Amino acid sequence: MLGRMTGRLGVRFSSHAVGLVRQKTLSDITKSYKAREPIAVVTAHDFITARIADSSTDLDVVLIGDSLAMVSKGYSSTLEIPFDEYYYTCKSVLRGVHEKYVIADLPFGSFEASVSQCVESAVKLMKLGKIGSLKIEGGFEHAAQIKRLVEIGIPITGHIGLKPQQFNATGGYKVQGKKAHDAANIFNEAKFLQELGCSMLVLECIPHRLAEYMTANLNIPTIGIGSGPGTSAQVLVQADMLGMLDFKPAKFVKQYANFYSTATTAVNSYALDVKAKSFPELETHTYQMKNEEFDEFKSLVES
Ligand code: KIV
Repeated sequence: MLGRMTGRLGVRFSSHAVGLVRQKTLSDITKSYKAREPIAVVTAHDFITARIADSSTDLDVVLIGDSLAMVSKGYSSTLEIPFDEYYYTCKSVLRGVHEKYVIADLPFGSFEASVSQCVESAVKLMKLGKIGSLKIEGGFEHAAQIKRLVEIGIPITGHIGLKPQQFNATGGYKVQGKKAHDAANIFNEAKFLQELGCSMLVLECIPHRLAEYMTANLNIPTIGIGSGPGTSAQVLVQADMLGMLDFKPAKFVKQYANFYSTATTAVNSYALDVKAKSFPELETHTYQMKNEEFDEFKSLVES
């Protein structure tokens, strides 16, 4: 049977050009974690980046990070994106994902006010389908919200260390946990989130020794960004790793391509072709019309 269906045992399938494909579940991620296999995560911010991520054979997880606010919508921080805009962006990403496990963010302003506001936003996102886990930036301060979502069966990914949604309070986008007391606080927050029932934990921009220690002393997968090689998973923002923007990426980013320069060179070549009248080429880029049809057309419009 084609079309999406949800198996009773939590095995999810999506329709796909070549038939049925199984979307990864939390059990797959847990299995990799227990087998100590590194887990690869990348963000997707629209249908195109979702297709790129979903087509990668070895990637495990797509994160619909609220970094999309800055990276693909041009806001100056993640605080500015309205929930509805994030929600509609999730819809376009999800149309492009069939195989990978999906984590989506609860964006700033959609969950902090109360547990009921949080549940309402979370349920709206989960109703889109295909989302396996929601990510909440923060720890102790959002305990009630995280506890409730876990209780109602929504897997939660915590996010500690650098919390970009709180950059105003933390004095910018800075490495966290360099001092022993701050590091202990981050580790305690991680243990607290694990106790609350979080399934995974993003560790953003903390010293690599701290991330490695935390990973070894927790029993849920850690997803590192800017936190060194010792975490269970790695995540990068796709636009950063593909060089999609004309910004200098952060120190922790490895650029695997330079889409921005390839794309601007290509667009300029096209513009030059148009100006030189060498595009479109008559034989290659056009559609034909039979002579008799064209003659009849002329007689119809000219008579
Ligand atoms: O929003 C995002 O893309 C994220 C990652 C950087 C972890 O939260």
